[in-house]
Amino acid sequence: MIVTTAELFDVAYGKFAIGAYNINNMEQALGLFEGHMRAKAPFIIQISRGARKYAGVKMLEAIIRAADEMYPEAIFAVHLDHGDEETCYDCIDSGFYSSVMIDASHEPFEENVAITRRVVERAHARGISVEAELGQLGGVEEDIAVDEKHAKLTDPDEAKQFVELTGCDSLAVAIGTSHGAYKFKGRQGLHFDRIAEIQKRLPGFPLVMHGSSSVPREEVERINAAGGALDPSARGVDANEFARAIPLGVTKVNIDTDGRLVWTRVHREHFRDHPENFDFRKPGKAFIEAYAEFIVDKSNKLNSTGQLETVRQALSEKAVA
Ligand code: G3H
Ligand code: 13P
Ligand code: ZN
Repeated sequence: MIVTTAELFDVAYGKFAIGAYNINNMEQALGLFEGHMRAKAPFIIQISRGARKYAGVKMLEAIIRAADEMYPEAIFAVHLDHGDEETCYDCIDSGFYSSVMIDASHEPFEENVAITRRVVERAHARGISVEAELGQLGGVEEDIAVDEKHAKLTDPDEAKQFVELTGCDSLAVAIGTSHGAYKFKGRQGLHFDRIAEIQKRLPGFPLVMHGSSSVPREEVERINAAGGALDPSARGVDANEFARAIPLGVTKVNIDTDGRLVWTRVHREHFRDHPENFDFRKPGKAFIEAYAEFIVDKSNKLNSTGQLETVRQALSEKAVA
């Protein structure tokens, strides 16, 4: 069942986070649904502009609708990841997406507000949720001065102003993470002090953490042992830190890179160990299973395991009221 992200956040805020995973193909979709049914967890499917180009808008919709029929117990949102204004409108008008992200964080504050406000108006008129972004992810280095170091993190006062001016339903905040496999050097990690400051200004308002892949060392080593050439110093977010971020208002946690690492490890190891094989269904099947187990593990870290019935209950109470 497709629901909005706002409906999921109402139930989750402060208690657990909803995992938001990017998909590009059928194998990811099957592993994603299977894993969440094993974990009995609600989830968010994210579709990037790159995914829409790669698989085609219609194909992605068909894959998701088919998975929804195959797993009728599933409760999830369909969300545009890092949208520009035009793609947001396309998704809103499609009648398929239940949530969009307008990413105008590279624009000056006033322009970001104006663009986001326009998207919110059009999305809310159709009952669709909107995630916006303020601050710039990444590039936070350990060896630069404190002021500079915080230059790109989300400013808590601006965050409050931004949410009031735009009416967005959730806000992606820059709190130390970046996209991809190379997030932190040395002892860096999440800026919990900054998240707490934002929550103080926006109590009860759902915050989104992009760039939340963990980039497990073991996964990188296995990929490299099977012929890969990833930088072994690659480091991501410690998934055990999700539990600390959740009570501070982090309600949506975006994960893409880790899923790509699972895909790469399974396929590299498969073809290393079975050089005679050319039936892609064999590694495909192994990937679906590995991805499902990966989702179970992430759901445990997000505290979303077992929350499916809580969400179902809340939705049916809302429907009665
Ligand atoms: O944040 C970006 C996501 O990882 C999606 O990546 O644009 O390559 O599909 P993509
Ligand atoms: P990762 O690159 O850490 O998986 O982040 C994904 C993301 O933020 C998608 O919007
Ligand atoms: Zn992102």
